[in-house]
Amino acid sequence: MTRGNPAGALRLGVNIDHVATVRNARGAPFPDPVRAARLAEAAGADGITAHLREDRRHITDADIDALMAAITLPLNLEMAATPEMQAIALRHRPHAVCLVPERREERTTEGGLEVAREENRLAHFIAPLREAGCRVSIFIAAEPRQVEAAHRIGAPVIELHTGAYCDAGLAGDLAARDAEMERLRAMAAFAEELGLEVHAGHGLTYDNVAPVAALPQVRELNIGHFLVGEAIFVGLEAAIRRMRALMDAARAEVPA
Ligand code: PXP
Repeated sequence: MTRGNPAGALRLGVNIDHVATVRNARGAPFPDPVRAARLAEAAGADGITAHLREDRRHITDADIDALMAAITLPLNLEMAATPEMQAIALRHRPHAVCLVPERREERTTEGGLEVAREENRLAHFIAPLREAGCRVSIFIAAEPRQVEAAHRIGAPVIELHTGAYCDAGLAGDLAARDAEMERLRAMAAFAEELGLEVHAGHGLTYDNVAPVAALPQVRELNIGHFLVGEAIFVGLEAAIRRMRALMDAARAEVPA
């Protein structure tokens, strides 16, 4: 995902899952995730992210077909590490695949992937995806053992889960929020030392994005729920433009 951004700059992947959530609430053909993806591109997104869940609660197989056919931005397919999803990814060969943990009963992706406990299986799982040319990333909690395990299985990219940092801020627990930010800071630096590309995401909003965007090792943020919610009030393009501007402003403060 380097379109429209110089190397080293911070990319924005817009997650359009919840455009599909709203559509599916009525079983109508609208709002259309492909239209959202096109607007995201016009608003300065560098990529589109979509999570095809096992239960297809938002993005569907037909959405992935349509996105692959219609959009020019790179697609980052989020998925669980299951044989079904691997076959879908190998059929489509999206620009990127992000492996996430998935539990049917969860409302959203809670916690990161337990790479450390499943190294052997995941190493075999990602090998054909990498051979197919997909940039594989692993969504993990900011913990040294997960970063090390992601490195050992040969993943080129990790995405640090920012949910704990964001939730602590929403709860007004500033000490916990700052402690989570320190963990993110330390793990971003550690991952880069190991040669991993670092991404981050989950729960990011206008209010909490700046410190994450200012982590110099972070190359990409993936943001969805807040942007789709904000789109109700200001429109999707305006919401993305503002997020982009906040990210860029935070980044401008980072020494080159
Ligand atoms: N990154 C990953 C790996 C995710 O699973 C999600 C949520 O689907 C996001 C980023 C975006 O999180 P949010 O929708 O809270 O912005």
